[in-house]
Amino acid sequence: MTAKKAKKNDEEIETEPVDAETDSEEEEIVIDVPEEPEATVDDLPGVGPATAEKLREAGYEDLLSIAVMTPVELADSAELGEAVSVKIIAGAKKLANIGGFLSGGALLERRRQVQKLTSSSSNLDELLGGGFETQAICEVYGEFGSGKTQIGHQLAVNTVLPIEEGGFGGEVFYIDTEDTFRPERITQMARAAGLDPEMVLERIHVARAYNSPHQMLLVDEIKRMSRNIDVKLVIVDSLTSHFRAEYIGRANLAPRQQKLNKHLKELKQLADINNALVLVTNQVHSKPDAMWGDPTKPIGGHIVGHASTFRLYLRKSGKGGRRICRLVDSPNLPEGEAVFVVTADGIRD
Ligand code: GTP
Ligand code: MG
Repeated sequence: MTAKKAKKNDEEIETEPVDAETDSEEEEIVIDVPEEPEATVDDLPGVGPATAEKLREAGYEDLLSIAVMTPVELADSAELGEAVSVKIIAGAKKLANIGGFLSGGALLERRRQVQKLTSSSSNLDELLGGGFETQAICEVYGEFGSGKTQIGHQLAVNTVLPIEEGGFGGEVFYIDTEDTFRPERITQMARAAGLDPEMVLERIHVARAYNSPHQMLLVDEIKRMSRNIDVKLVIVDSLTSHFRAEYIGRANLAPRQQKLNKHLKELKQLADINNALVLVTNQVHSKPDAMWGDPTKPIGGHIVGHASTFRLYLRKSGKGGRRICRLVDSPNLPEGEAVFVVTADGIRD
């Protein structure tokens, strides 16, 4: 579902080959797989009770979360040998059935679990085919003041809304890199949505990320905490600001892109494992007069574009807080635009 076409004319270096259009849903072979009881870490071949306990202590209850790791990562975080980690990961891949093909039926079942979150603007919801989807990374990019953070706040409030009202009835993790999260704004929007502001604030877990390694560490923390919390929305606002400030110059572009890629992969895991939405914000290149750096292009180039399931481009338009949102990239929806406004109550038509 997340396979994207690699785009040409991108001034940034691609550091990993893009597996373009290989895992499209339609191409899967349909085989009916009988239902089996869900396997746990105890079922991993060659894993005794002591190792299973180590895995659990390190936060790996779930086979899918092990299956998608690299041996070095697993060895480090669960304090295991690398050879053992290789075996564990291979076993988890088999049991979690992600090493090879999934049946079309199984994929359809996974897609059936996708939920959609309202933005409080019916124009915007319509553009997105009914709202912001789970199991996906949605990138919102645009210049300063275009409304990225406001959308983040609105979706955080709406995540708490019951499902019947277009919400997820769940909780939110908000990684704030620019110190722009405002509880007062949440209070305003919660009241307008008919929710108790204190209850809403209780369900939004905010962490300030001080630099890019810290930002990445916070994803691990969310992974751990999501064992006990029904996380339905993860926001990273902004995804790229630290990376951009820390990796300066062309020589640092490749390592920056590698780190960003890893970060996005971990975020996608969160989205898949929790059937949650991940919303990341991104700025556009700032200098309109520069030789390179298109001011309408988001930072991070291919890497971010390839990892995001949906990309929304926001622009300010005229007076009265009017904003235009363009759906730039989506696996199953037509490109298009929607107009919304930012009001005291939040995002509206
Ligand atoms: P950067 O993070 O700087 O890149 O910008 P951004 O895209 O995150 O912009 P943000 O979402 O912070 O939008 C800020 C704009 O939202 C302001 O310029 C206002 O136009 C609007 N806004 C924010 N709060 C309110 C509010 O309480 N009432 C109204 N009417 N508008 C608001
Ligand atoms: Mg912002």
